[in-house]
Amino acid sequence: MPNIDQQLTQKRLAAHMGGGIKRIEAQHAKGKLTARERLEVLLDQGSFEEWDMFVEHRCNDFDMQEQKVPGDGVVTGYGTINGKLVFVFSQDFTVFGGSLSEAHAEKICKIMDQAMKVGAPVIGLNDSGGARIQEGVASLGGYAEVFQRNALASGVVPQISVIMGPCAGGAVYSPAMTDFIFMVKDSSYMFVTGPEVVKTVTHEDVSAQDLGGALTHTTKSGVVDRAFEDDVQTLLMVRKLMDYLPSNNRAPAPFLKGLDPVHRTTESLNDLVPSNPNQPYDMHELIFKMVDDEDFFEIQPEYAKNIIVGFARMGGMSVGIVANQPLVLAGCLDIKSSIKAARFVRFCDAFSIPIVTLVDVPGFMPGTSQEYAGIIKHGAKLLYAYAECTSPKITLITRKAYGGAYDVMASKHLRGDVNFAWPNAEIAVMGAKGAVEIIFREDKNDPQKLADREAQYKARFANPFVAGARGYIDDVIEPSETRKRICRSLVMLKDKKLENPWRKHGNIPL
Ligand code: HXC
Repeated sequence: MPNIDQQLTQKRLAAHMGGGIKRIEAQHAKGKLTARERLEVLLDQGSFEEWDMFVEHRCNDFDMQEQKVPGDGVVTGYGTINGKLVFVFSQDFTVFGGSLSEAHAEKICKIMDQAMKVGAPVIGLNDSGGARIQEGVASLGGYAEVFQRNALASGVVPQISVIMGPCAGGAVYSPAMTDFIFMVKDSSYMFVTGPEVVKTVTHEDVSAQDLGGALTHTTKSGVVDRAFEDDVQTLLMVRKLMDYLPSNNRAPAPFLKGLDPVHRTTESLNDLVPSNPNQPYDMHELIFKMVDDEDFFEIQPEYAKNIIVGFARMGGMSVGIVANQPLVLAGCLDIKSSIKAARFVRFCDAFSIPIVTLVDVPGFMPGTSQEYAGIIKHGAKLLYAYAECTSPKITLITRKAYGGAYDVMASKHLRGDVNFAWPNAEIAVMGAKGAVEIIFREDKNDPQKLADREAQYKARFANPFVAGARGYIDDVIEPSETRKRICRSLVMLKDKKLENPWRKHGNIPL
């Protein structure tokens, strides 16, 4: 009988070997790191404290009592990312395909509970065949315990999911309830039902990658926020994301002062917006030139590209940026872009991250496909998100702010704290041409008269001063001074306090 020290060494070794060398090699052959290797990349060197290495499953069916691996297919514990405490779980595909047993779920729940007690983010590295088939309902119960905790942790601590292998069936719903999902290209997939079930039910032939690979989820479904080439790059990007986020909903977002002076002016911004109002320009250029060190971490860059969302720093402060993109669909708001931006605004608000909104929006997207699919309800999501948001809100209208979309995009009326416009901004119910065609319909056969009317309308409304005269715009600023003015506003808003009326929760139009 080995003594305690020997037993400890043996158990630790067994835990580190997971499903054995063959399965580790198979994992590597697929271009994937093991669960422990992944944690080494994710966490600061030497910071990982492992918990529950000796947990084993309790299943006695199908001879499972003969097949026990210490840790039971998931490595859990805590560590730091650039010094910030985070709790982690990393599923080990070499042990029963990373499948979730009752004990495996208990390990995940334990670190989630502890993360909530100390107010630290939870990062889950998912690589799993789903419910442990040998365990049946005990495994389903385990999933539900995790789901419950995902819901309770939402808006309290940031939750990040990384999909690094299979993630199928009901298992997808834990990542779906977390704040951000990253995927590894080619080696991971997520779907509710796999290709075989799809074939049986809908007679569609589709590969696992086409059904639920990174490309599908970053471009078509919008389920996933970012996808990267391999395990290492993906994990390094999670580290980068964490630098923008506070540890919990009562902690301030990290302040990381760079070398970029807050008073830096950018003359080239004076020429960013073309004189022809129908000519597009790339809103990314303004974002990069305005933020610290041209460093912008975009969320969902390949989905609903008519709106841009992501994190940056201004004067060292973490900010969420929401910007219409005139290059795509003229920057109009449609269903996908409204949902994308609404979710981002709500994340920033939950964690008190200031929001900088850049507006160039011709309105909501017209058409039967949008109306039939519920643009009314989905557009209202963004309106609701901005309206309930109490984080500092700074808005800059660079060109068009038309119609309902003017109201929605963090206008003064939705408690915008600081609302700027560039000198050639047009804040109106609609563009001049459309407006005169409606209110001077009797002139429709007289092109000259219509052109005169249009010129009059433009002169009267296609400027920021009508809104400025009512105080809807706090100042009209030179484009070159944008960074300086927004940085100053952020400092002014640092200690902003605003509370919504008490309620159990609102009823956002889901
Ligand atoms: C137990 C599992 C398992 C599972 C895989 N394994 N999935 N063991 N429960 N769910 C084991 C395999 O037996 C195998 O063991 C090892 O993991 C690796 O699996 P392979 O099939 O060899 O790997 P690969 O070819 O890469 O295929 C991976 C896979 C496939 C696509 C994930 O294993 C698969 O289809 N598994 C079943 C998926 C599934 O139907 N899960 C239940 C979904 S329903 P050995 O010993 O050979 O290494 C669900 C409900 C959740 O999850 C509900 C929550 C509400």
